[in-house]
This record gives sequence, C-alpha cells and structure tokens, in this order.
Amino acid sequence: MRVVLMGPPGAGKGTQAEKLVKRYGFPHISTGDIFRAAVREGTEMGLKAKEYMDRGELVPDEVVVGIVRERLQAVDCGQGFLLDGFPRTVAQAAALDEVLSADMMTTLDGVVNVDVQEEELVARLTGRRICRSCGSGYHIKFHPPTVRNVCDKCGGELYQRTDDTVDTVRQRLAVYRSQTTPLIEYYGQRGILLTVDGARDIEEVFREITAKLDEQAKGR
Ligand code: AP5
Ligand code: MG
Ligand code: ZN
Repeated sequence: MRVVLMGPPGAGKGTQAEKLVKRYGFPHISTGDIFRAAVREGTEMGLKAKEYMDRGELVPDEVVVGIVRERLQAVDCGQGFLLDGFPRTVAQAAALDEVLSADMMTTLDGVVNVDVQEEELVARLTGRRICRSCGSGYHIKFHPPTVRNVCDKCGGELYQRTDDTVDTVRQRLAVYRSQTTPLIEYYGQRGILLTVDGARDIEEVFREITAKLDEQAKGR
C-alpha cells in the first residue's frame, strides 16, 4: 500500500507510523527523520536543512523532492511505503505524483490526514522526548517511559528536539497552516483523503487509521 501520513506538527504522525509499519510491513519514510540524520552526520545537506528546521521553516522544495525521489527508488519501496511529513506543499505533491506515475507507474492509495487542534499540539510538542538510539517517541505526560529519560524499548537516553520550543512550535504551526493545509483540498478532490480525529488516545487513533486504510485497500 502506498500511503501519505499528513497532519500538523505534533499530530502524531511519527507515533502512528511506528505502529503502522509493524502492521503493514512497509518502510517508514519521514523527511524530518532524514534531515535530522543528515544533521547528526554533519553532511552539507544536513547543515543547510538545520538552518530552516531551527527557524521552523520548510526546507526548499527542490532539496526535499530530490531526497524523496531517490529514496522511493530503493527496492524496499516496491510493494509500498508510508510517507510521513512529505508532501508539505502543493509543489511537492505535484512532484510526488510525477515521480509515482513516471518512474514507478503507480499512484497513491490513500492520504491519512490526522486532525488535531492547535492548543493540544503545543502541549504535545513541548513535552515530547525521543530516544537517541532507536528513535522511539515519548511524551512526559501523555506517553511517559517507565523510567524517566530512559527508552522502554532499548534503554537509550531520551532527548528533546531543538525545534520543540514554544516559539519555534508556533512558527511551525503557522507554516503548516499557510503552506500545507491546501493539500487537504488537493487530495480531497481526488477522493483519496482519509481524515482521522487525532485528538484521542493513541490506540483509538490507530484503530481508526487502520480501519480506513483497510477499507480503502478493499475498494481499489
Ligand atoms: P518533521 O520531523 O516532520 O516535524 P513535524 O511535521 O513538525 O511533525 P512532528 O514530527 O513534530 O510531529 P508528529 O506528527 O510526528 O508527532 P509525534 O508522533 O512525534 O519535520 C521537521 C522539520 O523538517 C520541518 O519543520 C521542516 O523544517 C523540515 N521538513 C520535514 N519534511 C519537510 C518537507 N516535506 N518539506 C520541507 N521541509 C521539511 O507526536 C508528538 C508528541 O505527542 C509525542 O510526544 C507523542 O508521544 C505525543 N502524542 C502522539 N499521539 C498522541 C495522542 N493521540 N495523544 C496524546 N499524545 C500523543
Ligand atoms: Mg514526526
Ligand atoms: Zn530506544
């Protein structure tokens, strides 16, 4: 299945992706994770991306599209994929359509839109913690690890993202509103938008996403 997971910063894309990958076996492609890995490795692309990320702005379309195009060529994407945080602009969405039709002779099966109100998002992002070793996501209140600052899955140390400060979060939300929300109409018109209420508990959100994806897969 070829799926896009969209939604504002903090909607729970990464949290749901961890679970969806286990269920459907497709690779999880998060452009944010790709950029953060490049920052850690200190590559030229990573250093450039970091400037945008720390300001809460989008990395330029050409850079992101190039990375995703290359990633989709990998053999593990042959049977499907889960894109998380891409596309984020209409230009990126059009480029994705082009890559899928021209290079892979296929189309998207569904676009899951995880819907959550802004005030909830600020609380989620400023309390988020991530494992340095395995990348698992936690929240100090909503999804705490058993031992403070220690990953339940691998014992790794938890850290806070540098763009999870209140001011940067506000900027990321504003960028989402102006540049990414047009995609709701873009995919809605094509009849592949699956909107899910993301303001409920993690398991309930997961159940609704899988129910909608399974139904969508049956209908195609
Ligand atoms: P990216 O890493 O994609 O960040 P984002 O879109 O801002 O989304 P987040 O990862 O912050 O949130 P999430 O929805 O994954 O939430 P999570 O599951 O962690 O992008 C970062 C930056 O990279 C961008 O700002 C941009 O600069 C650049 N970039 C990336 N892609 C790009 C692109 N395509 N074009 C241009 N630039 C790009 O959950 C958040 C917290 O809430 C966690 O603590 C979690 O435990 C908790 N939580 C999750 N679900 C629930 C729930 N149901 N109830 C309560 N708490 C919950
Ligand atoms: Mg994420
Ligand atoms: Zn871990």
